[in-house]
Amino acid sequence: MLFLLLLVLPGSSNGQIDPAHCRYPLGMQDGRIKDSDITASSQWYESTGPQYARLEREEGDGAWCPAGLLQPSDVQFLQVDLGRLVFLTVVGTQGRHARGNGKEFARTYRLEYSRDGQLWVSWRSRAGAKVIEGNNNPYDSVIKDLHPPIIARHLRIIPVTRVQTTVCMRVELYGCAWNDGLTAYSSPEGQVMAAPGYPIAYLNDSTYDGYLERRWVFGGLGQLTDGLIGQDDFLQTHQYRMWPGYDYVGWRNGSMGLGYVEMEFTFDRQRNFTSMKVHCNNMFSRGVKIFSEVSCQFKLQLISDWESRPAQFYPVLDDRNPSARFVTVPLDGRGGKALRCRFSFADTWMMISEISFQSDMVNPLVVPINTQLPSGVSTSSPGPEPSTPTPQPGLTHVLSQSPTPFSAETTPTEKDHHDDESTSALIGCLVTIILLLLVIIFLILWCQYVCKVMEKGPRRILDEDVTVRLSSCSDTIVIQTPHAEPSCPEGDPPYERVYLLDPQYRDPSALRHALPELSQSAEDSVCSGDYAEPDLTQGTPHQCFHSSVEHYAETDIVSLQGVTGSNMYAVPALTIDSLTRKDISVAEFPQQRLLFREKLGEGQFGEVHLCEAEGLAEFLEGGIPILERDGRPVLVAVKQLRADATKNARNDFLKEIKIMSRLNDPNIIRLLCVCVTSDPLCMVTEYMENGDLNMFLSQREVESTLTHANNIPSVSMRDLLHMATQISSGMRYLASLNFVHRDLATRNCLVDRRLTIKIADFGMSRNLYSSDYYRIQGRAVLPIRWMAWESILLGKFTTASDVWAFGVTLWEVFTLCKEQPYSLLTDEQVIENTGEFFRNQGRQIFLSPPPLCPPSLFEVMLRCWSRDTKDRPPFHRLYQALREHTA
Ligand code: ADE
Repeated sequence: MLFLLLLVLPGSSNGQIDPAHCRYPLGMQDGRIKDSDITASSQWYESTGPQYARLEREEGDGAWCPAGLLQPSDVQFLQVDLGRLVFLTVVGTQGRHARGNGKEFARTYRLEYSRDGQLWVSWRSRAGAKVIEGNNNPYDSVIKDLHPPIIARHLRIIPVTRVQTTVCMRVELYGCAWNDGLTAYSSPEGQVMAAPGYPIAYLNDSTYDGYLERRWVFGGLGQLTDGLIGQDDFLQTHQYRMWPGYDYVGWRNGSMGLGYVEMEFTFDRQRNFTSMKVHCNNMFSRGVKIFSEVSCQFKLQLISDWESRPAQFYPVLDDRNPSARFVTVPLDGRGGKALRCRFSFADTWMMISEISFQSDMVNPLVVPINTQLPSGVSTSSPGPEPSTPTPQPGLTHVLSQSPTPFSAETTPTEKDHHDDESTSALIGCLVTIILLLLVIIFLILWCQYVCKVMEKGPRRILDEDVTVRLSSCSDTIVIQTPHAEPSCPEGDPPYERVYLLDPQYRDPSALRHALPELSQSAEDSVCSGDYAEPDLTQGTPHQCFHSSVEHYAETDIVSLQGVTGSNMYAVPALTIDSLTRKDISVAEFPQQRLLFREKLGEGQFGEVHLCEAEGLAEFLEGGIPILERDGRPVLVAVKQLRADATKNARNDFLKEIKIMSRLNDPNIIRLLCVCVTSDPLCMVTEYMENGDLNMFLSQREVESTLTHANNIPSVSMRDLLHMATQISSGMRYLASLNFVHRDLATRNCLVDRRLTIKIADFGMSRNLYSSDYYRIQGRAVLPIRWMAWESILLGKFTTASDVWAFGVTLWEVFTLCKEQPYSLLTDEQVIENTGEFFRNQGRQIFLSPPPLCPPSLFEVMLRCWSRDTKDRPPFHRLYQALREHTA
């Protein structure tokens, strides 16, 4: 049973809500939200009342329409009572189609929400915008993610118009139950950390929806409950275009004259608290540590006094591991409706990115949903407090502990307090829950069955229609008719790739016709093809890297049901191969001479550390000019394989070493030495003081009198061109070796203190920049916004697809990485746009010219995004063109 419950209750990592998984329809479409809970400010006719505002339903006259023509100054709203507090992550809207008779829709709308039905707050995006793009026609539903999410029980959807018009709407809301029950927290305002040599970190709670008075925030929720946890380095952030420190709320020791920070938490009802999880930063090298002590007091009702006996906890302080972490504070099952916790500083700074509570509801069946305003807000008198706590463990635990998919909750009225009635209500509820569980179990099993069938179905179709085989003996891609065998020497197993485009291209002859370059793919083979370039290796034997075979020899086929119809996309997976020490052409360095300084990042393989390498210059016998010998310690970046790494990961790590050990170019990150004779395996590369190019540029502005006058970190246009030229030079070198990078982007370029750029590909970037990668059913990550159409649709990675990615990288450089490519498109829309690139009927959306970029340079980018690979410029030409621009 427990196992089944775990299956049913999704997305609860670390006891807090994961916004990426909390996306369940809340019941507009399927009717779980009752008509009586959907109201509106007005309606045009009976037949366009609020009860008809259900997405994808066609009842009444097909939608809710407010009365009369909507004027720009009008506030007409559709209001939904969700029956309990909900963590709302997505809104879907649709116009009135009425089976072809309707034509009204809302192009834009805004949201207001309330936790108690009395105090309403306007939603704003992280960038401060209130208005959300809605529909462009009456029939398509448009889904919008809410960043930040909303925690509320009541929601108003308010159509917005710039001209007088008729609007009609249908909606669905998506999210999950907010079982924490927290309705407000209050704390001192977060502060600003400014230190010489570092970017300024703004550690305020920028999405807080309550009040700020005398440096104290109260009556609201914000970043501490948005489900996003901060990075190890508090200067880095998960959010695009957000400032350093964005993910954390932080305070300086003593700044309020105190050695602690006090926070108050108010809940929807009385609860018995098991624990509190606090996600804290611990970057001790910058004076940040988790708290040294926390002491929490409770009160049963908002009007009562704090109980004198606190729950106290002393976490183990850690000044060896700088990783951010969850600290779980046991709360011993203490009961209360409010908590006051005092967090004591262990160092100069304390930074928190998330707080969640694990609790059992007290008497959940008879206590009404919160009718209470948060403390400090006095626009209404508090509702009745629940009677003495009566914990009902088993049942309430399930209802309150995990972020469950939302289901409307029935709440008997408070008048029914007779024992008999509550007993029968309890039994009724138990029976309902058991029935619901059975239905859910049935649905899961059915779903699993259907998924299996669907997974098999397309495979079968694919196998019959077209199979693309990639032989491991060369980098050759050949389309084969069914049952033909790949030609490959014995003992060298062929790896099969199966690709599929739109259903219209499932026929192999159509595919050959539509993609003439594929029928020539035999010519693309080993070390030849469009991109044969001068050998720039100066003495290095002209070497051919079959990187697409070595890295992505096998392909999983994953269907994106419901996203782009039944299209399938090629997803590379890694293979195992054996490698020996002799394959690695750099020296083994004694591991004990690597002295840890700080953590630089973390990735799929493990962590990257900044280390001092004792005696490395002597060890390498002067073979490497970049190391200084002026007595200063030699700093290096050390990538370490995780202790619990799988055999596959170990193999991939060794393969990366093998590849890197053979690269030798001023614009490619240099592998200096390795530690592979004992665990943990390490690769040691030169240290690039300015970190990755994305972070570097996003923290700078283009040089101007303003930046000079205000001391704002800046780069000149000349710097940008020089950076672009260096990237093209590094890529020219890789192309000369027929090495396909596959993941060129600013996040994978490193910058040293002299602004030299070196191309790298550290798995760690996948964590830091996870929003740049597209996950398919949680299994694979692809940098789709940088990928050429043929890589997404055909799984074909070549130097030509690297050229496409280079175009996107150029675009990033000239936007100073202030925006993600195609930021207005969702991942699914990016993939749809890829289809348009393939069809080439003028409907594809290109990245727009960056404001700073000379038109001739934007033309270079456009050439990189040519539909036909032969029209894309080779890297040596790109290098020449960029040098001319720099001159
Ligand atoms: N992060 C990952 N690798 C790095 C390097 N070589 N230098 C600086 N930061 C890094």
